[in-house]
Amino acid sequence: MTDNPSALDDVPNRPKLKDCVRRMAHALERTSDAPWIDAQRLAGLATGMTTAQLIAHGERQLDIATHDQLKGLLARRAAGEPLAYILGNAGFWRYELSISTAVLIPRPETETLVELALEHLPHDAALRVADLGTGSGAIAVTLAAERPAWHITATDIEPSAIAIARTNADRYELRNIAFRVGDWLAAIDQEYFDAIVANPPYVAEDDPHLADPGLAAEPRRALVAADHGWADLKLIADQAPAALNAGGLLMLEHGLSQGPYLQSALEAAGFESIETLKDASGHPRVTRGYLTNLRRARCPRFGRMDSAS
Ligand SMILES: C[S@@+](CC[C@H](N)C(=O)[O-])C[C@H]1O[C@@H](n2cnc3c(N)ncnc32)[C@H](O)[C@@H]1O
Repeated sequence: MTDNPSALDDVPNRPKLKDCVRRMAHALERTSDAPWIDAQRLAGLATGMTTAQLIAHGERQLDIATHDQLKGLLARRAAGEPLAYILGNAGFWRYELSISTAVLIPRPETETLVELALEHLPHDAALRVADLGTGSGAIAVTLAAERPAWHITATDIEPSAIAIARTNADRYELRNIAFRVGDWLAAIDQEYFDAIVANPPYVAEDDPHLADPGLAAEPRRALVAADHGWADLKLIADQAPAALNAGGLLMLEHGLSQGPYLQSALEAAGFESIETLKDASGHPRVTRGYLTNLRRARCPRFGRMDSAS
């Protein structure tokens, strides 16, 4: 919370735009890591101006309705509501994505998973790639846009998340994405892939950070997994072989301490060339393995795991 949530209350009836932005930035200093950017983005939302226009027209006096709108936006942000939910938009890779409270706000560290997938998989082959738990479609949309030869299948258990992901695919006129609603691998039963990628929930139920107003605004199902944050990673590692073609790649984002557990789970599931890779901040963030063991690939999904179909 800010010390001064009503920072715009005691300004003249028709305040100057630049004064409002300055007061908002000061009011957001304790809530936000980037108070000036937040203030400019909120002012841009209320006025329809770009940042450059806000600066160029700083002397302009606001009308009462816009001033009132800004007060409302400032109160929401000062109470800890994430900027992306207020704007309905978030940047990921080089794309602007529509966002609602039905989906996780895409994180910069997830760009590591995208970067590795783009780097490690053949660019021009007609690969089939699944993005499990797609949320806003951040991973799926980026892969589909960056690699038009690939065919992406994006899944989520939440129909409302799939609706947002579809909007984002439409926004970039992507025709190489299909969507499925369902529970992890069950959503793609009888389909086979050259690669499966996912950023599943991996936060423990009792993680104190969940009380942070920013995280509390996000869907709990997008963040929290049972068994101390481990259940969904483990389940995907166990089930993925049945949906992968021989030689297929599984790549999972995870929490900082989960790499060694995930490596063991991938090994037990028959993956090879297993490696945990770091994000841009140097934290272990993505673990991947290849399914070179042919007997494991394309097994009956929810039955025996030791005979090829
Ligand atoms: C951490 S979010 C990742 C969203 C997006 N892929 C990203 O990286 O920004 C996890 C996503 O998994 C979905 N999810 C949770 N449980 C699921 C399940 N059992 N089956 C499929 N998706 C699930 C959530 O709805 C959420 O969209």
